[in-house]
Amino acid sequence: MNGIPQPFGLLAEVTHQCPLHCVYCSNPLTLLDRRDELGTDDWLRVIGEAAALGVVQVHFSGGEPLVRGDLETLIAECHHLGLYTNLITSGLGLTESRATSLVSAGLNSAQLSIQGDTAESTNLVAASKRFDKKEEAARIIREAGLPLNMNVVLHRLNLSRLDEIIDVCVAWGAERLELANTQYYGWALRNRELLMPSRAQLDEAVGVYERRKAELGEHMELLWILPDYYEPYPKPCMGGWAQTALTVAPDGAVYPCPVAAEITTMKFPSVRDRDLEWIWFKSEAFEAFRGTGWMSDPCRSCPRKETDFGGCRCQAFVLTGDPARTDPVCVHSPDHHLVQDAVVRANQQDVTEGGEASHEKLVYRRPPTSARR
Ligand code: SF4
Ligand code: FES
Repeated sequence: MNGIPQPFGLLAEVTHQCPLHCVYCSNPLTLLDRRDELGTDDWLRVIGEAAALGVVQVHFSGGEPLVRGDLETLIAECHHLGLYTNLITSGLGLTESRATSLVSAGLNSAQLSIQGDTAESTNLVAASKRFDKKEEAARIIREAGLPLNMNVVLHRLNLSRLDEIIDVCVAWGAERLELANTQYYGWALRNRELLMPSRAQLDEAVGVYERRKAELGEHMELLWILPDYYEPYPKPCMGGWAQTALTVAPDGAVYPCPVAAEITTMKFPSVRDRDLEWIWFKSEAFEAFRGTGWMSDPCRSCPRKETDFGGCRCQAFVLTGDPARTDPVCVHSPDHHLVQDAVVRANQQDVTEGGEASHEKLVYRRPPTSARR
C-alpha cells in the first residue's frame, strides 16, 4: 500500500512481569502492572490482524512470557494461522510439562537468555541466583525437540568472561548464541556508567569472539551485535522506522520497535482503539520517521542516509530529547559529544571495578513500589 512494506515480524510483549531484575532490561522504566495487560481475546484478535497484515513470525517476549497461563492458546492460534513462533525466555518457570504443552500447541523455537557463566555473575546483573534453573531450562528445551538459541547481553561486568560464557552455551547444546553488546536505553542507560566497557576490554572480547567463531565453525553459530557507542556510524535500527516489524506492549500500545515507549513526546496507537492494519499504514506515529523525507541535515545530504536511515530514533530521543535528530552515535551528528563523553569516561574508569561494589550501585529493574503485589 503506497509503497509501504508489510511487516514480517511481531514482537508480542505479553507481560512486564519477570522473576529477574536485569540492570540492562529494554523494558521502559515505568513497568506495566498485570492489571493493565491485554486479555486472551485481545491477543487472539491481534494475532489474527498481524497474520492478515503479512506477519510471518511472532516472538513472544516480556518480561517473562511464561508467567502468562494463556501462552499455549496464543501459540496455538499462531500455529493455526501458519505463523512461526519463538519464545524469548529467562528459562525461570519452564518445566518439562510446560515445554510439552507449548510444543503441542505448535511452538517452533526458544531463545534462552543467560547473564553470565556462574550464579554469582547472574546475581550481580539480575538479582537472582537461579543459574541452575537456566541449565535445567536448556536441557528441557532440547529434550522437547526445540532448537536451543541462546542470548547474553555483554557489558563491562561480564566481557572478560566471554570465553567461559561461550563454553557454557556449548556445554548446554546451543545451536546459536547471540552476543549482544548492551544498547543504552531505559535501565541500561540508567546504569551506563557501570555497564559501559573500555575500548581495551572490547578489543579483547572481539579477539575472543573471532577465535571462538572460527573454532566452532558450524557446531554453534556465534552472532556479535555491535557496541554502537564505539562505532563511527549508527546502526540501521530496525531496518528503518516502521519498515519490517512491530511491537505490541502488554497494555496494547503498538510501537515500531521494542524501545519506542521511551519517546515520551510521541503518542502511540493502541490495539484497544484501532486495528493493526490502520496502525501500520495510517497512524501518525508509524509515518513519522518512515523513509528519508523527515530528515534534516546532516542526514538529508548524507550518502549513507539509505544505509543507516539516520540511526536510531529512540537513541536520538533518550540522548537529546528530540527523536528527529541525527543519532548522536554518528560522527557527523552535532550531538556526537554526548556519546564521546560517555566513551571517554568509560576509558578512564578502572575496568577491574565491579563485584560487590557494583552490586550496591546498580539500579535493578523493578516496578514502582506502588505497583508491586
Ligand atoms: Fe547516517 Fe545521518 Fe550520520 Fe549520514 S549523517 S551517517 S545518514 S546518521
Ligand atoms: Fe527504537 Fe532504534 S530502538 S528506533
